[in-house]
Amino acid sequence: MKRYKWGILAPGRIAEKFAEGLKLLPNAELWAVGSRDLSRATDFAGRHGFVRAYGCYGELAADSDLDVVYIASPHSHHHEHTMLCLGHGKHVICEKAFALNLREVDEMIAEARSRGLLLMEALWPPFQPSYREADAIISSGRLGKVLSIAGRFGFNSPYSAEARTYNLALGGGSLLDIGIYPVMDILRYMGIPDDISAVASFAPTGADDSLLAVLGYADGRRATAYSSFIDEAGVGTTFILEKGRIILERSRPGGQLLTVEADGKEPAVSSFNPPASGFAPEAAEVMKCLDAGAAESSMIPLSFSHDLMQLLDRIRIAAGIIYPGRD
Ligand SMILES: NC(=O)c1ccc[n+]([C@@H]2O[C@H](COP(=O)([O-])OP(=O)(O)OC[C@H]3O[C@@H](n4cnc5c(N)ncnc54)[C@H](OP(=O)(O)O)[C@@H]3O)[C@@H](O)[C@H]2O)c1
Repeated sequence: MKRYKWGILAPGRIAEKFAEGLKLLPNAELWAVGSRDLSRATDFAGRHGFVRAYGCYGELAADSDLDVVYIASPHSHHHEHTMLCLGHGKHVICEKAFALNLREVDEMIAEARSRGLLLMEALWPPFQPSYREADAIISSGRLGKVLSIAGRFGFNSPYSAEARTYNLALGGGSLLDIGIYPVMDILRYMGIPDDISAVASFAPTGADDSLLAVLGYADGRRATAYSSFIDEAGVGTTFILEKGRIILERSRPGGQLLTVEADGKEPAVSSFNPPASGFAPEAAEVMKCLDAGAAESSMIPLSFSHDLMQLLDRIRIAAGIIYPGRD
């Protein structure tokens, strides 16, 4: 079994969970952590058992023993940090949103392809057991075609102008942070929409604190995506199919619930409680690709990340969401 030396760039909140996931994987070696501050890197490395700690991202990227880097900085910096790591010959899995706009995403993809390095967007729901089961039912076709999807992701994030969620300079805003999930579901199962209507409400910083998008298809189908940092709407997706409905509830803290309502049958409800570190399957997928010599994952292909950012750009424009200097 080949073991891969992992690095973590930006040891913030989500990096804590990803590190827990890595610990579950026998082929993952917790190798190095890079922070803007050496004491933060040293603290994180010590708590999780990483071997090396760096007080600057460039030193992490230049570590010649490192195989693959997980990028967990704010999305405003994903393009810069991905290009840095690819430039040093490292494979990369980068948190969502992949970048701030399509131009940045396309540059990242082109750089990875030109260097023959793996690049993957860290979209974790498709790796979760409840999602995989829903995916298997939809893909089997036994409930027919997907006619409509209603997805929501909402929680209360107290306002602070400096918080990553509200600070435009850090890519703040509900669409890119959490609205990306219902939009991802719609893109996966209904494809690229023909028309888009979207409305957002804005925090004093100019970040969208809530957003509702209606995506329309030429054949008359509709889908809706809702995101909010204001209300506790929870996390869930309802798929309406020709012969039934599938409801995925992923709200914290109650675990995940999958309800399948096939026409004429009693609803079947399954509950899933993935381990706290539900991020392990994502990291496992990266190493599976590397074992196979693949430069991208068939679970989250780069073409999907391209289409997703293109769709997010269109929704942003429709809703009037602007990242100054980044459009
Ligand atoms: N997959 C998921 O479920 C999930 C969940 C939450 C967040 N995320 C994504 O993960 C990324 C990080 O989110 P998070 O909640 O972990 O954020 P966070 O706790 O604020 O951590 C981000 C880290 O980025 C580094 N950083 C680099 N430049 C920075 C800057 N200019 N300002 C602030 N921090 C900067 C900081 O680490 P150092 O200064 O120590 O280097 C900071 O700790 C976001 O893109 C977010 O969308 C994904």
